[in-house]
Amino acid sequence: MRSILQPGNEPVYQRLANLIERMIAERALRPGDRVPSVRQFSVQQRVSVPTALRAYATLEMRGFLEARPKSGFYVRARLANFDPPRAAAVAAKVTDFSHTDPFASLLADFGAADLVPLGGAVPSAELLPGPRLARIMAAIARHSKTAGNTYDMPPGAETLRRAIARRSLEWGCALQADDLIVTVAATEALSLALRVTCEPGDTVAVESPTYFGLARMLRELRLKALPLPVDSATGVDLEALPRALHRTRIAACVVNPNFQNPVGFLMPDEHKRQLVQLLAARGIAIIEDDVYGDLQHAGVRPRCLKAFDPDGSVILCGSYSKSLAPGYRVGYLAAGKWHERALALKRISTLGGATLPTLAIAEFLRNGGYDRYLRSIRQSYRQQVERMRQTIAESFPDGTRLSRPAGSFLLWCELPDKVDALKLSQRARQAGISIAPGPLFSPDGGFRNFVRINCGHAWSPRIECAVGLLGQLAKQMSV
Ligand SMILES: Cc1ncc(COP(=O)(O)O)c(C=O)c1O
Repeated sequence: MRSILQPGNEPVYQRLANLIERMIAERALRPGDRVPSVRQFSVQQRVSVPTALRAYATLEMRGFLEARPKSGFYVRARLANFDPPRAAAVAAKVTDFSHTDPFASLLADFGAADLVPLGGAVPSAELLPGPRLARIMAAIARHSKTAGNTYDMPPGAETLRRAIARRSLEWGCALQADDLIVTVAATEALSLALRVTCEPGDTVAVESPTYFGLARMLRELRLKALPLPVDSATGVDLEALPRALHRTRIAACVVNPNFQNPVGFLMPDEHKRQLVQLLAARGIAIIEDDVYGDLQHAGVRPRCLKAFDPDGSVILCGSYSKSLAPGYRVGYLAAGKWHERALALKRISTLGGATLPTLAIAEFLRNGGYDRYLRSIRQSYRQQVERMRQTIAESFPDGTRLSRPAGSFLLWCELPDKVDALKLSQRARQAGISIAPGPLFSPDGGFRNFVRINCGHAWSPRIECAVGLLGQLAKQMSV
């Protein structure tokens, strides 16, 4: 780092702050980089510790640095000119998601090592504690020669249900182990929730845009969808909701209130409370998908809708796929009023889950340091999201708008009008990059100039290059 020894008219702390600011502008220091500790900086620059600290505090005030508890000062992404993507007008029209064909092609991208994985909402296995979980699973298999190889009958391993119930205090819920059913990840939990609350032909209200796996599930279950408009910061539009409910009879409403896929919004607690009140008063089942709830970038873990549920109208679905082990397929369901019915359906649909992965996740939650591990994965996701935003800012066409999620690892990106996201995703695929085009998330082929970008992988030159190339493709299409 360059040294400033010559005194001038400026106060020393300001000259030091300007020096760092210049290094950031010249990209010698980049978003997510850690700057020297205050002590190191004071020694390097031959100034007192309070002066070095004042320089950093000035940079923090100017928005160039951020302090992270017990970790030091880091360069922030400065993207003040990025507006959030706009909420698209939603036609209050019941639909069956019949256009969503690129779904199969995106799923096929999942395991393709030759594609840069910006498509699926999948975290990198390298960031997840795979070896530790495998050791736990092996130890369980060794110590209990039979327990790991018997049916895990519904409601599923009590050790896991107890561990989840304990964690639910943090979500504002205070569930009991008996409220929970272990499922084959969130996908089975959502499927059970829809099947216990709806009959074929019923209409389900969903956020627009919504998770495309849910869209496909509705189609397969012969359910229709009523898209609900969302605000990019606060989720379901609570003013528009009563009008939509007045016009259409709906059996259930599925929401993803914490770091929604794809928009990334976090519903404020007051909105969660109002949403539950509104729907429960009309006897509408509320299905909450909380797969990203543990992944806030800072501060406390957000509450669940279930925390505001007075009478068992909310069915909570979750899993450990996004935070710990997508391959173990371990999730859960707290089905409220529909508990017995869900249990019966679980018995006939899968009988039980895979016992060893279930026990291994339970042990990791109980004694494996899940909280410590979450602190590090949250930080990685936050840095990766910041890095991705910065690189998109540098390479995408003017007029691009981008989400700024407070958790999880997904970005929702609105491109200039002329860019057709389906064509862009085909061209990107030919160039070796997988992305998720907006129409996948739309009930009626909308969001045609939107893409979702996965930031679940550690930053690398390969990813940086791919994002640069994606920007070039988008620029070519935007003129
Ligand atoms: C919002 C949402 N719900 C559910 C799922 C499925 O989760 P699981 O892998 O636990 O079945 C996903 C996966 O991408 C998702 O994004």
